[in-house]
Amino acid sequence: MKFFGYMLCGLVIFSFVFAPNEDGKYTPSTHARTISKMPTNHKVVALTFDDGPDRRTTPEVLAVLREKKVHATFFVIGENAERYPNLLAEEVRDGHEIGNHSFDHKALPRLSEAMIDQELERTEKAITSIAPKPLLFRPPGGKLDNKVLAAAQNKGYTTVMWSVDPRDWRKPSVEKLVNSILQEVKPGSIILLHDGKYPSPTPQAVAIVIDRLRDAGYELVTVSELLQIYDIGGQ
Ligand code: NI
Repeated sequence: MKFFGYMLCGLVIFSFVFAPNEDGKYTPSTHARTISKMPTNHKVVALTFDDGPDRRTTPEVLAVLREKKVHATFFVIGENAERYPNLLAEEVRDGHEIGNHSFDHKALPRLSEAMIDQELERTEKAITSIAPKPLLFRPPGGKLDNKVLAAAQNKGYTTVMWSVDPRDWRKPSVEKLVNSILQEVKPGSIILLHDGKYPSPTPQAVAIVIDRLRDAGYELVTVSELLQIYDIGGQ
């Protein structure tokens, strides 16, 4: 990698980085926090893809990332991972990071604690049959409360939100999608995209976005890599 990152001690990161979700929809507790971007001046951003694997969209996204030599983070739905183990294996083989996005994309705050645990565990089981144990969790629909946060944290997950949301699931034109990403992106951004089961301008747009970001001096990394560059932010 071009950057020289190393993980600072968790306490430092938790003090400065893990701010409560910006929408303020839950009351922050002492320990459970989310991350939606990294505070850095370095031109580093993370592409994330939710809701896959899907038999149509995921191979298209993977082909683009392979061609551009970019590693991204896929927040997979457990039942899709079970349905398409070969696609999950392809993501892993290509060097992408896999995160937990629940088993069936239910709104987790509505569920009991036992059911939330089950959502996380079933997905983890589907992932670990192929990939290393996931360290990152993103709640379906971004819906969070303290119960969900605590459940994720108890299982060793960092809860990852985003700072750039171009709403690709609304199927904007490729041009519109590209522009809305580029207008919002900043050093340390986490970009929310989807490789779910809907037809999508995302694969095409991602190819253009990667080129434009590189032209502007950005490096594209996984979320875990982004977490590691915190300490060089001021340089
Ligand atoms: Ni989702």
